[in-house]
Amino acid sequence: AILNVIDRDGRAHELEAVEGWRVMEILRDYKVGIEGVCGGSCDCATCHVVVAPDWAKRLPEPREDEIDALDTLPLIEATSRLSCQIIWSDDLDGLTLTLAEAA
Ligand code: FES
Repeated sequence: AILNVIDRDGRAHELEAVEGWRVMEILRDYKVGIEGVCGGSCDCATCHVVVAPDWAKRLPEPREDEIDALDTLPLIEATSRLSCQIIWSDDLDGLTLTLAEAA
């Protein structure tokens, strides 16, 4: 299944995503510009992405700790998410997101 990513230079990437992986891990392994410093424990917010609005509503709601971590960032958008908190499943085929500017 395909994860569509717009990187910080505006370039589009189509990544082959694997069921059960965190989206952060997929972005990190393809080296599109996400570090995931804390390894996915909702602590660093370096995995911040902005999900395309029509996809955002198809994702499970963020948990409290994700909302709290997003709130520490200087600039977030209505569909900002921490990509380590999005677990890939093949129903998400075609999901589109943009990498947020590094904080
Ligand atoms: Fe650190 Fe997502 S990888 S908050």
